[in-house]
Amino acid sequence: MIDQAQALRHLVHSKDLLSAKTTKVVTVTSGKGGVGKSNFSLNFGMALQNRGYSVLLFDADISFANIDVLMGTPAKYNLIHLLKGEKSIWEIIQIGPSGLQFIAGGSGFQDLVRLREQELEYFAEQIGKLHGHVDFILFDTGAGLSKETTKFITAAEETIVVTTPEPTSITDAYALIKMMHSMGHQVPFRLVVNRVADDREGAQTADNIRQVASKYIGIDIPVLGFIPDDVSVSKAVRRQTPLSVAFPNSEAMQGIDRIASRFLMEERSQAQKTTRGLSGFMQRMKKLWS
Ligand SMILES: Nc1ncnc2c1ncn2[C@@H]1O[C@H](COP(=O)(O)OP(=O)(O)OP(=O)(O)O)[C@@H](O)[C@H]1O
Ligand SMILES: [Mg+2]
Repeated sequence: MIDQAQALRHLVHSKDLLSAKTTKVVTVTSGKGGVGKSNFSLNFGMALQNRGYSVLLFDADISFANIDVLMGTPAKYNLIHLLKGEKSIWEIIQIGPSGLQFIAGGSGFQDLVRLREQELEYFAEQIGKLHGHVDFILFDTGAGLSKETTKFITAAEETIVVTTPEPTSITDAYALIKMMHSMGHQVPFRLVVNRVADDREGAQTADNIRQVASKYIGIDIPVLGFIPDDVSVSKAVRRQTPLSVAFPNSEAMQGIDRIASRFLMEERSQAQKTTRGLSGFMQRMKKLWS
């Protein structure tokens, strides 16, 4: 039995010297459900796209996929067509608002683990083709640690954990991080606190998780930022239009924009350290900050 996560990682990150871009794969997840992962993934993707980066948003929630519903862009084909080997990766990529590329999840496909080896190989090979195609691939996963979510997390270079200030959401976020850690996965996590009343509440929530993670599992979990609780989010959902389009100046979108700027700034300093994809990256960053 092949290790699917390893195969995915290998294929997604294998250095293709001919490709112009270095693709970074980021997974967005949470312990508790309904904390705002899909809305964050979509609008974070839009914010990166609006800053001149190309993004592919991948709805990796196989049971309850809904990114296409949030965008109001019905998907002709979805992940299930790929998993069944009926379509290639290029055929299931759809174009959403602002040119954001996305792969819809489709519903009713239970578990990646149940795929036959042959199907898995096709899936991993097809995902591998995305290397160099875009700057960022964002996997929006379902809540909690299903087997497939674990695989997406381990295949990515970094995982953004979304939580709200509610104690149940905090406990579940920590439980997810701890479980991944105890399974031996060295995954860099960063935190986004959604639905905060103010920055102070965001900072308290983040500190809470950071301190526990540092004390009990000895890992640091940096904070990427906070998003205010804002009725514009549910209004945008009802309109089936991304927040970034429906309410670009809303408080929640401003929070997501700050997160995108910070994310890109830290990418830049990482790129300086590792010289990863440096020249094109630096050019875009210069444009962005000038
Ligand atoms: N910043 C916010 N302010 C106010 N409401 C929000 C905010 N973020 C999300 N919501 C509300 O939470 C609902 C759930 O959001 P979303 O579908 O993005 O969560 P999710 O974590 O992806 O859920 P699931 O675990 O089911 O995939 C939204 O429809 C919206 O009403
Ligand atoms: Mg979701």
